[in-house]
Amino acid sequence: YVIGIDLGTSAVKALLVAQDGTVAAEATREYPLYHERTGWSEQDPEDWVAGTIDAVRELVSGAGVTPERIEGLSFSGQMHGLVLLDENRKPVRRAILWNDTRTTEQCREIESALGDKLLAVTRNPALEGFTLPKMLWVKRHEPDTYARAVSFLLPKDYVRLRLTGASHMDLSDAAGTLMLDVANKRWSPDVLQEFDIPALFCPTLVEAGAFVGTLTAEAAKQTGLAASTKVFAGGADNACGAIGAGVLSPGTTLCSIGTSGVILTYEADASVDYEGKVHFFNHGQPGAFYAMGVTLAAGYSLSWFRDAFAPGESFESLLAGIDNIPAGSNGLLFTPYIVGERTPHADALIRGSFIGVDGSHTRAHFARAVMEGITFSLNESIAIFREAGRTIDSIVSIGGGAKNPLWLQMQADIFGANVVALENEQGPGLGAAMLAAVGCGWYADLAACAEQFVKRARTYVPNEAVSERYAALFEIYRRAYGQTRELNY
Ligand code: XUL
Repeated sequence: YVIGIDLGTSAVKALLVAQDGTVAAEATREYPLYHERTGWSEQDPEDWVAGTIDAVRELVSGAGVTPERIEGLSFSGQMHGLVLLDENRKPVRRAILWNDTRTTEQCREIESALGDKLLAVTRNPALEGFTLPKMLWVKRHEPDTYARAVSFLLPKDYVRLRLTGASHMDLSDAAGTLMLDVANKRWSPDVLQEFDIPALFCPTLVEAGAFVGTLTAEAAKQTGLAASTKVFAGGADNACGAIGAGVLSPGTTLCSIGTSGVILTYEADASVDYEGKVHFFNHGQPGAFYAMGVTLAAGYSLSWFRDAFAPGESFESLLAGIDNIPAGSNGLLFTPYIVGERTPHADALIRGSFIGVDGSHTRAHFARAVMEGITFSLNESIAIFREAGRTIDSIVSIGGGAKNPLWLQMQADIFGANVVALENEQGPGLGAAMLAAVGCGWYADLAACAEQFVKRARTYVPNEAVSERYAALFEIYRRAYGQTRELNY
């Protein structure tokens, strides 16, 4: 067996996976998010560690498998979150997360300091969610705290440090810091120098599948795992989502709807130039890359809507009856900018809207409009890929958005592409388990592992008439950004 640990934003999920790819058991622990001010989003790294230990202990004790049979484990992690560590490798403050948008000023500073070099070296524009702007924010607003920091890690790297005692960062996650020379796979001397970041501040870089050590005696005791359990670095959640969905060869595309939403294409090399319109990061597959557009509040828009207007209800009851409402929700349009938007607007200040509210609309119309708005936002990323010449005719869909057949059909209709759902889809946690499975030598590479682990269940084909209707509505959706932006106050 191997364990895949998916350190997410709302919870950590641990999967126990057998050699043939069967998920034998899973365990989840939730932890709090702190939103002390508008746009702020933080978590306590200790909560991640405690949640991971608890979840793994539950897996090991409940699965009826002797610990020695669990050969290895690896991670998938929420990206970009800044964990600053002091000389005793203790966090100097809470982690500032990917969905925290306080750093607009630091982004402008990075752009003007680095100019064209920013895109040429890091392959990404300065966005609030990325790590470097967070570092500069702490330096500027909490100088005493910053002065105590001697290094930094990303969320899953910190958990791994606590389990193994070893400090590393994998390339797929490092790519989201805005400090990595993505094509050359090294910390960028230009970026470090410009912002006075000593080389020692940056952790040792490894591939996502790299073996980084075994468990400390304490971690073994706490989790119930054998101390000899092999630990592999793991990757960014989107890279692991791609691995776990078999997006491992040119021409494959992923749609992932979790808290955020992502459209991701596999890139065999770094030659393509999307001009910074989408992110460009290292893949968990050695030597490969991926490009992706991000909708900041995808699943989060729907959970926000439920919590605000149907508190305590399940998604099932929230979505009951929406299949009786026609495409377009009878004139009700939603823009999912409730925490700002990344792709294509890179605008932390824009906020969402319901447009066209009519006296005949019910809560179900609103719920459907929210799903449509999220999917339109993802379609803006698909439009960027298509405009750059990529053919997107088949998309593997994972995450919460893939649990609902109506939403899968809606994706096919709005994207104008076949949408493939997986059997027992497990998202990034399965990708993490695959990194461990390959690391343990069970399979020659990730592609061979995917043949065994990733099973396609059903393909949703666009309905031509509905697709046409959505294509017309999409043009209206695209205009809503500019028009509502003028009205934001
Ligand atoms: C990607 C991003 C999110 C997080 C979610 O750039 O910010 O998708 O990875 O954990």
